[in-house]
Amino acid sequence: MNADAKKTALRMIPYGIYVLTSADGQGNIAAATVNWVTQTAFAPPLVVVGIKADAGSYGTVKSAGVFALNMLGKDQKDLAFTFFRPADVQDGKLSGQSFRAGSTGCPILAEAPAAVECRVRQIVAEGDHHIVIGEVVDAHVMKPPFGRPDAAILEMKDLGATVFYGG
Ligand SMILES: Cc1cc2nc3c(=O)[nH]c(=O)nc-3n(C[C@H](O)[C@H](O)[C@H](O)COP(=O)(O)O)c2cc1C
Repeated sequence: MNADAKKTALRMIPYGIYVLTSADGQGNIAAATVNWVTQTAFAPPLVVVGIKADAGSYGTVKSAGVFALNMLGKDQKDLAFTFFRPADVQDGKLSGQSFRAGSTGCPILAEAPAAVECRVRQIVAEGDHHIVIGEVVDAHVMKPPFGRPDAAILEMKDLGATVFYGG
């Protein structure tokens, strides 16, 4: 296989940008910006996320059995960059961001326009990122989008010419 062709072809897949959060009730709270996300079923509503198997957030999602995907709006590039680093909780804020606990206990970012909460149904442990299959068990819209909902989401291409996760 030609390595450059593999990289270029895979980088043609478009992605939205989300902040994955989780809390296991034992004091472990995780938050990470992710892009490897898609819905895979209507009934039950399923989504999959590719999570780095050696990342802190993976361990928290695995032990908590729940996660949330906080959607980021077009103008929230700064929030995406905030959660590229491991998160910390200080003064009741998650890496400086206000949040509340959703019905699953996962942090819901106050600034996110929308979020879904998921219960982990299965984890497929293949590769350096594992595929976490989640059933959407709660959903929140804090800022209703004008027009198409998918036009309101921050996308990988909005992060700059050199930012990729894939290839
Ligand atoms: C553009 C971009 C996209 C990313 N997408 C993912 C992703 O889909 N899955 C993932 O596990 N990590 C992804 N990461 C890495 C996480 O953001 C990063 O490992 C995480 O925030 C570190 O925190 P943690 O150790 O608590 O997980 C991405 C990083 C960048 C720069």
